Amino acid sequence: MNNIRNLILSSLLLLLVSCSGQKVSTVGSTADIESRVDRLLARMTLSEKIGQMNQVSAGGEISNYADALREGKIGSMLNEVDPVKINEYQRICVEESRLGIPLLIGRDVIHGFHTVFPIPLGLAATFDPELVEAGARIAAVEATGQGIRWTFSPMLDIARDPRWGRMAEGSGEDTYLDARMAEAMVRGYQGSLSDPTSMAACIKHFVGYGAAEGGRDYNSTFLTERQLRNVYLPPFEAAVKAGAMTLMTSFNDNDGVPSTGNTFILKDVLRDEWGFDGLVVTDWNSMGEMIAHGFGTDHKDVACKAVNAGVDMDMMTFGFISHLEELVRSGAVKESVIDQAVRNILRVKFLLGLFENPYVDVEAGASVQYAAEHLDAARRSAEESAILLKNDGVLPLNADRIRTILVTGPMADAPHDQLGTWSFDGDKGHTVTPLRALQERFPGKVVYVPGLAYSREKRSRFDDVVAAARRADVVLAFLGEEAILSGEAHSLADINLIGSQSELLAALKSAGKPVVATVMAGRPLTIGRDLPSCDAMLYSFHPGTMGGPALANILFGDVNPSGKTPVTFLRTVGQVPMYYSHNMTGRPYNGEKMLSEIDMEAGQTSLGNTSYYLDYGAYPLFPFGYGLSYTTFRYSDISLDAETYPADGTLTVTFTLSNDGNFDGTEVVQVYVRDRVGSVTRPVKELKAFERVNLKAGESRSLSVRIPIAELAFFGLDGVKKVEPGDFQLWVAGDSASGEPVSFKVQ
Ligand code: BGC
Repeated sequence: MNNIRNLILSSLLLLLVSCSGQKVSTVGSTADIESRVDRLLARMTLSEKIGQMNQVSAGGEISNYADALREGKIGSMLNEVDPVKINEYQRICVEESRLGIPLLIGRDVIHGFHTVFPIPLGLAATFDPELVEAGARIAAVEATGQGIRWTFSPMLDIARDPRWGRMAEGSGEDTYLDARMAEAMVRGYQGSLSDPTSMAACIKHFVGYGAAEGGRDYNSTFLTERQLRNVYLPPFEAAVKAGAMTLMTSFNDNDGVPSTGNTFILKDVLRDEWGFDGLVVTDWNSMGEMIAHGFGTDHKDVACKAVNAGVDMDMMTFGFISHLEELVRSGAVKESVIDQAVRNILRVKFLLGLFENPYVDVEAGASVQYAAEHLDAARRSAEESAILLKNDGVLPLNADRIRTILVTGPMADAPHDQLGTWSFDGDKGHTVTPLRALQERFPGKVVYVPGLAYSREKRSRFDDVVAAARRADVVLAFLGEEAILSGEAHSLADINLIGSQSELLAALKSAGKPVVATVMAGRPLTIGRDLPSCDAMLYSFHPGTMGGPALANILFGDVNPSGKTPVTFLRTVGQVPMYYSHNMTGRPYNGEKMLSEIDMEAGQTSLGNTSYYLDYGAYPLFPFGYGLSYTTFRYSDISLDAETYPADGTLTVTFTLSNDGNFDGTEVVQVYVRDRVGSVTRPVKELKAFERVNLKAGESRSLSVRIPIAELAFFGLDGVKKVEPGDFQLWVAGDSASGEPVSFKVQ
């Protein structure tokens, strides 16, 4: 299937009904685009073709690039965000180069451009693809307003090791959730193709990068083909089906083959099986790094391997621009391979309408940045992404009964750090911190004593802040990690609250007043030891520009929290990897005792023979999909519409969801399925559907969810994707560890 080409038609229809009032250009039909690509290609010299395959990072004076642009030696530029410069670069290409091919301007617009949304892991916690799509659209409107037409997002790397700093950039541990978020972001960024606000998505990092051994960034992975196909590849395939226009290869080597030189993933799977006809770009110098991997001798060698494996564009190795011409002349690379790469690049430029609209309207673009509705969407996203992990009844706070609020902690007023990783373009001057939001909302009531100036600070005495806590009616502690502690190349071996934050929290608790901890972080920290030191804990990840008002709205009950953990929260880092959709061992844990429960003096030498940790047990701190609300939800009357389904059928599960509490609220209903017996062992549970449901206090509603049986297909022993007949179990619940299963069969 030719995904991008199929999108053109639907895009054209959308354009016809577009009422945005913006100037739009029609891209023409599939055949038109292909013939424009072919006609242009036929006029290109080898050197001009190779120029299109070269991407450079901007910096410094325009004159640094002018000659190369004029000579057609640069096809794409990243990291230029000044629209005036972008227009000048485009002018040189369009008016002064022989063929007038516009540049493709790229940037890491990862969770918003100027208006910063929660980090992607936080967005995943919303379980709200519509909201995430709207956020990606806003990011595209702002970024394209400054001339950026290509974002290196979404990152689709499944991450099951919170030591890995880049867990912040993805949707967490689950394949299904990741795939839904992937589609939403692709749709949001790309909008209607050729609309000037359409920004090409780049799905990355292909593939397996999140499985870095030891959680150390860039490290090797050893994923089997079956793991790749069942767990790591499906989000990419979903994004390709959603029309993603570009894809980035990853830094890692999997089972000895670096992705940038991996023919199996780039050709066999991506092109041949999925029909991807978009552009494949390397990661930053990932082609050059194949030398350090020991996969090539020099830049010429790795350029040859990468292009023959299916890479179209070189990001910052300069291997293509320096060596491809020679490689073609020597016969090591066929010119048809170059032609195909250039086709993939030109197609994207035509689809985006760059030939018709190469320039950006600088004034109009400036007027959309930080628009009120953008800030509003960022606030709503931050509200939906916050997860309530503990509540002894202190939340929501009743403002009428509070005279003095102590605000404390290193994240209470950290306007840059609450934006999280990859927020180059977010101006911290626009950030509303919790401190600011609370001060504005409760003038005269807020006392601010930071306790710790920054997260890593070490302090042993907290007399000032404890004294302030004694005088306050409630203590709001904002803890976590700064933006710099997660993200690329920022892995950690210890994921407890860093510095003296746990000591600060314990000291605050000793003052005897209600303590509410809010954690802002790029990963699920091991906060088990801190739970006893607070009466309630809200986990917000890095919430972005509007984090302050969003958190204030939750703490004071205007918004009922609904976020759910997109990744398992561990008791201790030693439990890594621990994720809900693991396979069943031959000796599943069966409630055996832990070390602390054993009388060692009795001379017991064996403590059991099942799969668990003697010191930390078999379970995480919080399972995947977990999150409390100010109300309580109850599931009942769960039933299926049949006992047996054909492989091409659809099951419908019906159930009643009741809001038993005193607050209106939103529940993220989750449906999990287990395939009891397979040609290979299957996960104990896999998420197959989810839905956000709003219920009034006291309301009960009968709901149903449909799941095509085809969703239960997997790559089994024969390597073919299919549904294997047999017995299944299904859960409908509010997290991955709750509920009772109902059974069904597939014939
Ligand atoms: C990252 C990519 C990013 C690229 C361009 C690399 O270091 O791995 O995710 O898109 O830089 O900035």
